[in-house]
Amino acid sequence: MSSSRKKAFSTRSIHVGEPTEAGTQAVEPSLVLSTNFVFNPDEAGFSAETLDEKTPNVYARWSTPTVRALEAKLADLEDGEDALSFASGMGAISALFLGTLRGGDHLVLSDVCYAGVAELARNTLPGFGIEVTTANFSDLDAVSAAIRPNTKLLWAETPCNPILRLTDIAAVAAIAHAAGARFGVDSTMATPVATKPLTLGADYVAHSLTKYLNGHGDALGGAIIGRKEAMGKLRQGALIHFGGALSPFNAWLIRRGLHTLEVRMKAHQENALRVASYLESHPAIRRVIYPGLPSHPQYALAQRQMTNTAGMLTFQTKEDGAEVARRFYRKLQDFTYAVSLGKQRSLLFYIPTADILQSSFSLQGAALASYREYAGDGIFRVSIGLEGAEDLCADLDQALRKE
Ligand SMILES: Cc1ncc(COP(=O)(O)O)c(C=O)c1O
Repeated sequence: MSSSRKKAFSTRSIHVGEPTEAGTQAVEPSLVLSTNFVFNPDEAGFSAETLDEKTPNVYARWSTPTVRALEAKLADLEDGEDALSFASGMGAISALFLGTLRGGDHLVLSDVCYAGVAELARNTLPGFGIEVTTANFSDLDAVSAAIRPNTKLLWAETPCNPILRLTDIAAVAAIAHAAGARFGVDSTMATPVATKPLTLGADYVAHSLTKYLNGHGDALGGAIIGRKEAMGKLRQGALIHFGGALSPFNAWLIRRGLHTLEVRMKAHQENALRVASYLESHPAIRRVIYPGLPSHPQYALAQRQMTNTAGMLTFQTKEDGAEVARRFYRKLQDFTYAVSLGKQRSLLFYIPTADILQSSFSLQGAALASYREYAGDGIFRVSIGLEGAEDLCADLDQALRKE
């Protein structure tokens, strides 16, 4: 067999960046917490501007062996050239926006995305002179129509948080590149087990490592993966100077979580499909949205673009959602009523559409109609964990019943 054969995803998720350590001979890598490193004065300068890929570790805000090993693994798993990690997903995305956009530039953002990103774009970026408009990224004509001569970046999540609407990555990348702009994809809800946005033409991939990639709900982290030159500039201009570096301890935990990413994603998908199918036939449920169900409005795109449909689903109840939410909080045993996603425990919470309208910026007309097509008056956003699917179905059934 040829030695150039690319190894399997799980093999790489375990081994890349983790050779047996010289010195300790430890099989699992040591956690290096040191904030500074001995360096040869001929190999590194004091300014971050002299930094290149050959520069050794100098100071922990720039890089550490533990964080660098995680970055090598992330770049490999996303089929990217390099990765840069941050203290959180928001740290990564804000560093990319502020590190690549200048006053006078224009950003086209998906009109449905994680609330922190929507609020950053609406409230903070205009203060730096960056223009922002939103578009429905499931509608390619709407994306094209939003492009301006000064558009520098397009940004979408797929599946998007919270409604699980999808974006055709290859098609939007083509629109962005025809306009001389870059396209970034937040792939937190898909993971590289499902989708590799860089291979479909995206320029940047972002992850909240806090979610599936760590997988156990015990470490915040974020990453951007992309071309080496772009990542080098971002390391100097945004990581080192904005200072949102990932802690080595969290990097070490996230590295450990990545070892089981592929098997966890298979189990998340299997469980989610079983719970989604069960809910779809439950008399108390109005609608279920799950990219792995034929009833998802973009099922064909999901089949084409996702090799795993992950563990996120939403449902609407026939009874008033706020009332059901109170009962869920009191009665659920195997689900936890909490935000976040992508961990071993199943989580859910209720998102009234009225709350989204308050926090989001331009959900009117066709944009609002598209949101409502997926979410009605409100959805339960569910992250299906790794418990037994039968227990999860039984837990939802007992909590859906009125006392
Ligand atoms: C899709 C998506 N992107 C980014 C973030 C932000 O990540 P973090 O909480 O790690 O800052 C989240 C958090 O929920 C998210 O769901």
